[in-house]
Amino acid sequence: MKRRNTIALLACLATVPAYAGEAALKLADDPNAVLVRARCSICHSVDYIQMNSRFIKREGWEAEVRKMVKVMGAPVAEDEFKPIVDYLTRYYGIDQ
Ligand code: HEC
Repeated sequence: MKRRNTIALLACLATVPAYAGEAALKLADDPNAVLVRARCSICHSVDYIQMNSRFIKREGWEAEVRKMVKVMGAPVAEDEFKPIVDYLTRYYGIDQ
């Protein structure tokens, strides 16, 4: 029983770096990608950004980031809000 738990734990640990690497690769290349990745991949993968990208406009991304900050508690500073929204609108918005 004890051995099984150890194996399960090792399996979990082994998948974490692969998952993070995959998420990092998928974000569009840009100077602000570093900021977006740092702020937006703490609680979930950046896949959440791509999954919503087809139908979100600038106002949508503003509302989304505001919700992440106000409701979820994402640590985004005042002066980081605009660069993050600019980035999301440019690469993952429908009205770029
Ligand atoms: C403090 C934790 C946290 C951080 C940091 C965070 N999010 Fe989220 N995010 C969540 C949670 C919780 C959900 C809802 C997940 C679910 O329903 O499965 C979510 C969902 C989403 C969704 C899916 C749509 C929705 O509203 O449910 C998008 C898009 C998203 N986040 C984008 C972002 C972006 C962009 C950032 C960076 C500014 C970010 N998130 C940072 C917690 C966070």
